[in-house]
Order: sequence, then C-alpha cells, then structure tokens
Amino acid sequence: MKLLWRSPLVLAAAVVLTGFLGVSLIQKAGAGEMKGPANFEFAGGGQGKVVFSHEKHAGKNPKCTDCHVKIFKMTKGQRSAPKMADMNNGQSCGTCHDGKTAFTVKDQATCNKCHLKS
Ligand code: HEC
Ligand code: HEC
Ligand code: HEC
Repeated sequence: MKLLWRSPLVLAAAVVLTGFLGVSLIQKAGAGEMKGPANFEFAGGGQGKVVFSHEKHAGKNPKCTDCHVKIFKMTKGQRSAPKMADMNNGQSCGTCHDGKTAFTVKDQATCNKCHLKS
C-alpha cells in the first residue's frame, strides 16, 4: 500500500527535478528512439580522465531506467561525483562494473578501460 502511492510521488519529484529537457528526453526514450546526451568526462582523481559514453552504453543497457534515476541523477550540471569506494562496494558504476555484468573496477588490468592515460 505504502509503495503504491509512494512511487508516483517519487516519479513526480524526478520529473520536476529533471525539468523540461529531461521530461522530453524520457518521453522520447520511452518510444525507443532517443539517445543519451553527448559524452562527458570525469577528471579521474589523478588516475587518468574517465569518459562516459551514453552511446557506447546503449547497446547493452538500452533502457534509460537501467541507470536513471536510481543509480545516477539526470540533472545537468549536478554530477553525482562517483567515488571508487562506492564502486568497489557495488554502487555507482560498480553496480554493473562488477566482473559479471561488465568488466570489474577492482582488477588492475581493467583500470585503464575507464581511466585513459594521456
Ligand atoms: C549505463 C548507465 C546509463 C544509462 C543506460 C543512461 N545514462 Fe544518462 N547518465 C549516466 C551517467 C553516469 C550520467 C552522469 C550523472 C552524474 O554524474 O550524476 C548521466 C547523465 C545524463 C543526463 C545529464 C547530462 C548532463 O549533461 O548533465 C541526461 C540528460 C541523461 N543522462 C539522459 C539519458 C537518457 C535519455 C538515457 C536513455 C537513452 C540515458 N541517460 C541512459 C548514465 C547512464
Ligand atoms: C547499467 C549497467 C552499467 C552501469 C551503471 C555502468 N556501465 Fe559501463 N558498461 C556496461 C556494460 C554492459 C558495458 C559493456 C560490457 C563490457 O565491456 O564488459 C560497459 C562498458 C563500459 C566502457 C567501455 C566502453 C567501450 O566499449 O569503449 C566504459 C569506459 C564504461 N562502461 C564506463 C562506465 C562508467 C565510467 C560508469 C559510471 C559513470 C559506467 N560505465 C556505468 C554497463 C554499465
Ligand atoms: C567503470 C569505470 C572505472 C574503472 C574500471 C575504474 N575506475 Fe577509478 N574512477 C572512475 C570514475 C568515474 C571516477 C570518478 C572520477 C572523478 O570524479 O573525477 C574514478 C575515480 C578514481 C580515483 C579518484 C579517487 C576516488 O576514490 O574517486 C582513483 C584513485 C581511481 N579511480 C583508481 C582506480 C583504479 C586503481 C582502478 C582499477 C583497479 C579503477 N580506478 C578502475 C571509474 C572507473
């Protein structure tokens, strides 16, 4: 019962927060034709910058809701600032980058799949 009326509230809050652009993106994504926004970079904390590509993720995670808004916010200019500690605990990017769904964040051999050396 609680869940039933809470989830529309959560949805409504998400819609307000993401604003008009976000809303129209979600609606189009529902129709299955929308791409995520352009690539963006995280500074990478001295390990080499990390480029996140919506396009490269779209193949295996076709639904925007695979990531939004439970794992990542969708608010322009308010990045969630992922931390390795969270990823190593299976949160943030580590929700999928756990060695099962996608390459792990814990193996020295795969650090550089995310952290690009300049
Ligand atoms: C594999 C995970 C993933 C999927 C799937 C995904 N996104 Fe994202 N998206 C992210 C991450 C990570 C961010 C950055 C959020 C942060 O730093 O808090 C982001 C940010 C955004 C932003 C904000 C961009 C900005 O400049 O601030 C929008 C808009 C967005 N996504 C739309 C979409 C849409 C539309 C889809 C479906 C077509 C989608 N996303 C699918 C991970 C994903
Ligand atoms: C919803 C699950 C999911 C989340 C969350 C996610 N990824 Fe991924 N990612 C994948 C999958 C699946 C692949 C492709 C499988 C593989 O290469 O092992 C992938 C591939 C990648 C690649 C390789 C892309 C290429 O082909 O060049 C990079 C880099 C990457 N992810 C970075 C990130 C970063 C950074 C985050 C967090 C901001 C993130 N991912 C969050 C599922 C996810
Ligand atoms: C799935 C992509 C991904 C993989 C794999 C990955 N990282 Fe990261 N890492 C990130 C992202 C995203 C950040 C956040 C960067 C930022 O906010 O500027 C980060 C940040 C960091 C930081 C900065 C401090 C912190 O805790 O946020 C360090 C140090 C780091 N990574 C080391 C590593 C090492 C060592 C490995 C391999 C064992 C690794 N990373 C593998 C995505 C990844």
